Amino acid sequence: MDMDKKTVHGEWSSRFAFILAATGSAVGLGNIWKFPYITGENGGGAFVLVYLISVLVIGIPLMMAESMLGRRARQSPIGAMRLLTKEANADESWHYLGWMGVLAGMLILSYYSVIAGWSMAYVFKAFFGSFSGAEARDIKELFDNFTGSPLTLIFWHTLFMSITMWLVAQGIQNGLEKAVRVLMPGLFVLLMLLVGYAMTTGAYEQGLSFLFKPDFSKITGDAILIAMGHAFFTLSLGMGAIMVYGAYLPKNVSIARTSLLVVAADTVVALLAGIAIFPIVFANHLEPSSGPGLIFQTLPIAFGNMTGGWFAGVLFFVMLVFAALTSAISLIEPAVAWLIESRTMDRKVACIWTGLSVWVLGLGSVFSFNIWSNVKVFDKTFFQLLDYLTANLMLPIGGFCIAIFAGWVMVQKDAEAELALANPLYYQIWLILVRYVAHAGIFLVFLHVVGVL
Ligand code: TRP
Repeated sequence: MDMDKKTVHGEWSSRFAFILAATGSAVGLGNIWKFPYITGENGGGAFVLVYLISVLVIGIPLMMAESMLGRRARQSPIGAMRLLTKEANADESWHYLGWMGVLAGMLILSYYSVIAGWSMAYVFKAFFGSFSGAEARDIKELFDNFTGSPLTLIFWHTLFMSITMWLVAQGIQNGLEKAVRVLMPGLFVLLMLLVGYAMTTGAYEQGLSFLFKPDFSKITGDAILIAMGHAFFTLSLGMGAIMVYGAYLPKNVSIARTSLLVVAADTVVALLAGIAIFPIVFANHLEPSSGPGLIFQTLPIAFGNMTGGWFAGVLFFVMLVFAALTSAISLIEPAVAWLIESRTMDRKVACIWTGLSVWVLGLGSVFSFNIWSNVKVFDKTFFQLLDYLTANLMLPIGGFCIAIFAGWVMVQKDAEAELALANPLYYQIWLILVRYVAHAGIFLVFLHVVGVL
């Protein structure tokens, strides 16, 4: 009896822990910083629609696939791919997929940390009242001066990387999952508050129609790829991060239901951020397409001019930093785990090496915003190039390979048993999405790379 009780309790809390960890990984700068600015750069409504469709038909099935593969193998992505390949009698080279994931995570973290550093700096700017009563012009000047200084950016980038690596070295992901419990509701409340402010700007409807009224003349091949890539980025898919978390998922938990919850939370946060930001953009005659600085040039206007704005501003940026931290951990953990496993390295030493490499790479992104802002390859700065390579190519390719593995290579009886869907029809739908949508997607990426699309 006693043991039964313990098991039930343990499993419930683990399911909750998985949801927390996966949501912590998914909700981050991708939702609040990246989604609004790429939406602004790609013309709004039609782009948002492609993003939402991608989340629905690729994001959800793939979130299920990654969790399922992780739970089946119960180990790190590289090990998991090795094991599952053996089970399926498939080609050994599948485990290179795990490698690409490790690399993609490190590349993403290198610029993610720079932007998280901006968010940290903005906690202090908010605290010292830099936004109070400020107008759009002052806020833009503040931002330009800030990003114009390489040393300042390096300082914050270093601080964020140090905290991340320190946390990963301690292996205290559990503590951070607890932080997510407070963070998610808090972030939600603050975003609602910002939406409330956005309603008073006089450009609320203009903002909404920019976001939700699709104008298909504005959609290009590039925009479709970016929208699709962002579905992977924002849900932390395509590199094995969710696979790692899936490894700790108890057997009797519904993968479909948990995946849906995580995807829903992530999407709601992104849309709320968009709804809060664009009315401020239009009310202050700012450019929707002003790029990575968008939230740093809009939200401070709201904080500077609304009642209780000082408090809300400090709290908002603190939460943004926490959201970034819980995501950053999932970006670097695969690399650290791999070093520990295969090189029998101490966890701390592994953290120092991966952290240092990521930090050095991050300098390239720091300089993209100042001294190297004119250094361009394929018309892109270092930061833009890295973002494009990872979010638009590596993640979709990685994700689609995972889909092919789950849909075609893996022993289908195993996949069906592991997913344990309530209705065989649901399994058929999942299989079709994972099998065919993945192929179509890869084809799309391929066409784009060779320049047809
Ligand atoms: N999803 C996170 C965000 O939206 C970023 C992130 C964390 C990520 N882990 C990942 C992206 C793994 C791709 C793969 O901010």
